Order: sequence, then C-alpha cells, then structure tokens
Amino acid sequence: MKINVPLANQIKTYSSWLCKAKMAFMTLMALSMGLTHPVANAQDFPQKPITMMMPYAAGGPGDTITRLFAGAMQKILGQQILVDNTAGASGAIGSAKVARSKPDGYTLLMIHVSHATNMAMYKNLAYHPVDDFEPIGSATSGPMVIVARNEFPAKDLNEFVAYVKANPSKVSLAHAGVGSASHLCGLMMMSVLNVQLNEIPYKGTGPALTDLMGGQVDVLCDQTSGTVPSVKNGKIKAYAAAGKARLPSLPDTPAIAEAGVQGFDINISFGLYAPKGTPKPVLEQLTLALQKSVADPEVRKRLEAMGVAAVSVEQATPAALRAHLKNEMETLGGLLAKAGVKAN
Ligand code: MLT
Repeated sequence: MKINVPLANQIKTYSSWLCKAKMAFMTLMALSMGLTHPVANAQDFPQKPITMMMPYAAGGPGDTITRLFAGAMQKILGQQILVDNTAGASGAIGSAKVARSKPDGYTLLMIHVSHATNMAMYKNLAYHPVDDFEPIGSATSGPMVIVARNEFPAKDLNEFVAYVKANPSKVSLAHAGVGSASHLCGLMMMSVLNVQLNEIPYKGTGPALTDLMGGQVDVLCDQTSGTVPSVKNGKIKAYAAAGKARLPSLPDTPAIAEAGVQGFDINISFGLYAPKGTPKPVLEQLTLALQKSVADPEVRKRLEAMGVAAVSVEQATPAALRAHLKNEMETLGGLLAKAGVKAN
C-alpha cells in the first residue's frame, strides 16, 4: 500500500536519515581508532591497568613510597597499578616518558623535589615540569638522615664531622644523580661542613644502599623510607637526622644541629602527576583515590614506621601540589643554580 506523503517531507525525512547514518559511521570510525570522546572515557575510567612511573631504581625510598600508594589506589580504583622504574638522569628519563605518554589517565608519575630541580640541572630537559603535566596531588612528606657504612672510622656525630672535615678526599658520598633528594642533602652537608667529597652517582639510592652495606661507598644522605629499616637491623649506621630535630623513627640518632651545624634542614615531599591534557573528570577520580589513600589508616601507619608522614586530604589536591612545586622551583632550583650545579 503506497502512502501519499508531500515531497518536502520526503526530502526532510531522507536528509535526517542521512545525517543519522553519517553520525553512526563517524562514531564507528572514532571508536575503531580509539578516538572516543575523552569525557565518555572518564565515566568508564579505569578500564585497564594503570602505570605509575617511579623514575628511580627499584628498592629506593621513592620506590617504597610509590608501591605503597600503588597498592592502596588500585584497591580504590578497581584496576591494577603497575610500577615502572625507568631510572636515570635523576628522574628526568622516566619523567620524559610520562610527559610523552597518552593523556588518558593510564600513565602517572610519582616524583619529588627532582621535578623542581631538574629544570635547573639539565639545559636540554625533554619536558617542562609545569607545562607538560597535570598535578593530581601531594602524597607524603618526610625527613632525611645521614648514614654510613658500619666500618666508617667515626663512632659518633662529632667524630664524623671532624673526620670528614680533616679527610674530605678520602670520603665517598653516594647519591641518586644531580638534583636528586640525596644529592641535595649531600650538597647541603658539604656546604655546611665546607668540604668537597667524592660524589658517586647511582640510578637510585636503592643500589647506593647496597654498596653502602657492602662497604663499597662511605656515606649517603637519604630519605628515612629508604634507610630506617637498615639502620634498625644494624646493616648501616646513622650519624644524624638532616635537620633541627631528632626523628621519632630514630630517637637515638642526634640531629645535625646538635653538632652546632646550623641551616641544614631538608624535607622531601612526593606528589602524583598525569600528562598535560588528561581529561578533568579522570584527574578528579585520581585525586579522589589519592585522597582516600592518604586518609587510609593502614597507609598512614606503614609510612609512619618509615619515618614518613602522609599529607592531609587538603594537601592531596592539584592546587596544593602546584603551589608546592612552584615553591621548590623557586627555592631549591635557585639554590642549585646559584651554586653553579649543572648536570650537563
Ligand atoms: C633521591 O632523590 O635520592 C631518590 O629519591 C632516591 C631514590 O628514591 O632512589
């Protein structure tokens, strides 16, 4: 049976059918090329495992903290979080890898002060610490401690200071690369003691600690998350907390200030970033998972045992991390530039 419909209506019906067909074709094409709308992704995020970059060698303080947060956040997000230890150039190689990765929330960067200092250290840095990243939030804050191989010839802090001042050329100082936390702490120590020690760079203080235990290197200034267990089990010895006050995790270790050394106080904070362009709804989900992790009593307890503090929920935000990075770039980056420290 033919139904008599005016021509204009037929054209209107046909053109709207054609438009729908075109839209359906475009959507199919976009889906096949993975170009679905990022916000649509956000509603399903995460759909697959996430990579969290820790750009220093496995086994160091940064790696310990990263694995703790990866474990906590994966439970919240419902997808596995795999830690990638692409190390070298004081975190710059791994950071560049994240900066170049797809901004979809599946590649993150956990890093500390070297995100601020690397710009002053490397003239050809392959990324910009602010322009190429989206801050998700701060995670931890923790002190540093000066440790040595057990046979180092000084029985206490005063003897350590005296020996280092009298024999600088005989003392090797390990660190994780120019601009790393352990390098900054070593620089501050050499500056306040007015000595130049033999610097031995590693891809992280995990491997440095192994050499310290084996007696291949003399001294290391490292974060407590990398050193407290080894001090407590007698594999290395601690001379001083790198600050004004003793550490609850090492109550018998004096603060460097007790040897009359002033102006030496360093604290290391880790923060989580995503590549620039990661969709806002995805970033918000990642910030929420980070906030739940810093508030998790089990996470806080395990960090406290390493002498590290989880930040407050209010600090686990993009704005707080952005402000922290800006401050470190201006202060520590400036300090290194003034000291004429350069990596290349
Ligand atoms: C450093 O800056 O010294 C690094 O955090 C050491 C590390 O995590 O391996």
